Amino acid sequence: MSEQESASTSMETIVSLCKRRGFVFQASEIYGGQGGSWDYGPLGVELKRNIKDAWWRSLVFERDDVVGLDSAILQNPRVWEASGHVATFADPMVDCRNCKKRFRADDIPGDTCPSCGQKGTLTEARMFNLMFKTFVGPVEEAAATVYLRPETAQGIFVNFSNVQTSMRKKLPFGIAQVGKSFRNEITPGNFVFRSREFEQMEMEYFCRPDDADRTFEEWIATRFQWYVDHGMRAERLRIRPHATEELAHYARACSDVEYLFPMGWSELEGIANRGDFDLRQHAQFSGKDLAFFDDETKEHIVPFVVEPAAGVDRSFLAFLLDAYREEEVSGEKRVVLKFHPRLAPIKVAVLPLSRNERLVPAARQVHDLVRGRYLTQYDDSQSIGKRYRRQDETGTPLCVTVDFETLDDNAVTVRDRDSMEQVRVPIANLPAMLAERLGT
Ligand code: GAP
Repeated sequence: MSEQESASTSMETIVSLCKRRGFVFQASEIYGGQGGSWDYGPLGVELKRNIKDAWWRSLVFERDDVVGLDSAILQNPRVWEASGHVATFADPMVDCRNCKKRFRADDIPGDTCPSCGQKGTLTEARMFNLMFKTFVGPVEEAAATVYLRPETAQGIFVNFSNVQTSMRKKLPFGIAQVGKSFRNEITPGNFVFRSREFEQMEMEYFCRPDDADRTFEEWIATRFQWYVDHGMRAERLRIRPHATEELAHYARACSDVEYLFPMGWSELEGIANRGDFDLRQHAQFSGKDLAFFDDETKEHIVPFVVEPAAGVDRSFLAFLLDAYREEEVSGEKRVVLKFHPRLAPIKVAVLPLSRNERLVPAARQVHDLVRGRYLTQYDDSQSIGKRYRRQDETGTPLCVTVDFETLDDNAVTVRDRDSMEQVRVPIANLPAMLAERLGT
C-alpha cells in the first residue's frame, strides 16, 4: 500500500463526522468560535476517556513500578524559571505587513507570504513565548503573574520526593499524570492536532543514570506497541529519532512515535531521555535536595528520567482516522469506525426490531440487564437497517436485537460490527458473552 493510499481518509471527512455524530464541536461555535479550542461532545468525551483509561491501565494498573499523580495547573512561577520554559519555551514568529497574518517562521520556506502571496512583506522573525500568563489575586501586577502549565511533566518533577518517600519507591520507578496543558500556539490547526488547550498523558520514569539508554529504548518499543495493541495499523505508525539540532533544551535524546495523518507523518508522542536536567534544576532553584538515597549502597543518586509524553487529542484524532472505513455492502456505502472495543464510545446498542408494544418493554428489560458497566444505548427509532448503520458510523462493536422470537425463546440476536455476522444468544448468557467479546 502506498503512503497516499494509507492516509486516504481526509481531515474534512473526519471533521464532518465528528460534528454530525457528536464527537467534537468548535468551541463557542454560536459566537463564531474560539481559535485553537475544541469542545468534545457526548461521544467524543467517551472516546477520550477510554483512551486515557487505556493508557492509565497499561501504565499504572498493569505495572508495579508506576504510580499516578494529579498536580495543579497553576504552580509557583519559579517552577517555569527552573524548567527553562520562561527563557526558552518560544517559537520564532513572523508577521505579514500586507495582510497582517501571523505565522511560525519555521513553516515558511522563502520570503513570500503563504496567505496573500506577496513577496518581501514578511517581518524579521521574533521569538514568542508560548506560555499563557494570568494573575493570582485581584491586582494585575508582575509579582502576581502565574502561568498555565505548558506540560504536565513539571508537576511530576516538583513532587518527586513527595511521591518517592510516601510510596517508598526505589529506582527505577515512574510517575504518571494525565491532564490539561496550555500553549499559546501561533498557528493552531489541523483540527484537534494542534490546539491551545489540550490534554497530555505523560510519565516520568526515574532510573539510574547508567540504565537510562536501555530504559529509553525499552519505552520507545513499549509505547509503539500500545497503539498497535489498541487497534492502530502498524503500517501507519513509525518511530523517528530526533537529530541533535532538533532536541529540546532538556533532552539528551528523543524519538517520536509518528502517525501518517492526512497532512503527512506527524508527531503523536515524544519519548525523551531528559537526563538529570529537571531534578538538578529544581534542586538548584528550590534549595531542596532532590536526590534519591539508596539504603543498600548508601549512595545519593540524582536519577535520570525517561519520559514518554503523549497527546490525548492527537491520539483521539489518530484513532478516529485509523478506524474510519468506507465499505460497499449490497450496493450501498457503509461507513464504519472499527475501533478497538476498549476504545469504542458506545459498547452495546439494544434495538427492538420495531416499536411494537410487546417488543419495546422486552428490549428495555434487556437494556437494563446490560447497562451500567460501560456506555450502552437503547434505540427504537427508524428501520433496523438504518439503526445498524448509525451504530456502525459511531463504532459500536455489538448490537443486540430483540425480535418476536425473543418473546418465545428468551434469546436475542447479537450482531458484530466488523463482520456483520449475527448469532442467537439466550438472554441468560448475554452479560457473559458481551464481557468476553468486549474484553471488559
Ligand atoms: N513534557 C514533554 C512535552 O510536553 P511535547 O512534545 O511538547 O513534549 C508532548 O508534547 C505531546 O503533547 C506531543 O507529542 C503531542 O501529542 C501533545 N501536544 C503538544 N502540543 C500540542 C498542541 N498544541 N495541541 C495538541 N497536542 C499537543
